[in-house]
Amino acid sequence: MPVRARPHATPARHSFLRSGPGYQRSVETWDALRARRNVRSFSGKPISADHMDQILEAGRRSPSSQNWQPWDFIVVTRPGPLADLARVSPGAGYVAGATAAIALIAHTPEGERVRDRTYYDLGQATMSIMVAAADLGIGTGHAGVADQVLARKLLGFPGDRFCPFLIALGYPAGRPLAPVLRPDRHPFEDVVHREHW
Ligand SMILES: Cc1cc2nc3c(=O)[nH]c(=O)nc-3n(C[C@H](O)[C@H](O)[C@H](O)COP(=O)(O)O)c2cc1C
Repeated sequence: MPVRARPHATPARHSFLRSGPGYQRSVETWDALRARRNVRSFSGKPISADHMDQILEAGRRSPSSQNWQPWDFIVVTRPGPLADLARVSPGAGYVAGATAAIALIAHTPEGERVRDRTYYDLGQATMSIMVAAADLGIGTGHAGVADQVLARKLLGFPGDRFCPFLIALGYPAGRPLAPVLRPDRHPFEDVVHREHW
């Protein structure tokens, strides 16, 4: 398990970090879960620094195996670097038009078991980030990273880390986020098994 050289410092300037127990407002988790969809076309409306940090905080709070927290997050917001990042894989082209991107960084896994844990936990952080963004009306999209050499050159992460995914963020260019009524998914009764297969 990688050892952190720096303390788990948390900036204390945001109201969502200062708030005590209980909800500050009603949290429409069910709506956010149903409204999240991959957004690949963005309006250009800025994301406030507070909202961006709230989304990142959702990632930081994600659960992980033995609480090892395998992630670092690099936030990219400038158009030039976003356009450069879009070149890391064929499926990442749309990142060029995003308002921001969060690059997920982890130690390059050695062995199958560590790799599986890494991907599982990065998946959890991804979903936390995406749902937190959807709760704010901000769209997100996954983008796998194929070219690690280019990603490292652009983002400057150390040689023992890799960047498996980017999460693009921005307000949707077209229809705003709203619960998807008929999601493109296998039928409920096909995938849900009760008590046994
Ligand atoms: C592990 C993973 C990798 C993905 N990689 C990409 C990608 O490189 N580019 C892309 O446009 N979408 C990518 N997606 C988005 C999926 O295509 C999308 O989640 C799926 O089609 C379901 O659509 P929805 O997210 O809108 O519900 C990825 C999703 C996951 C979970």
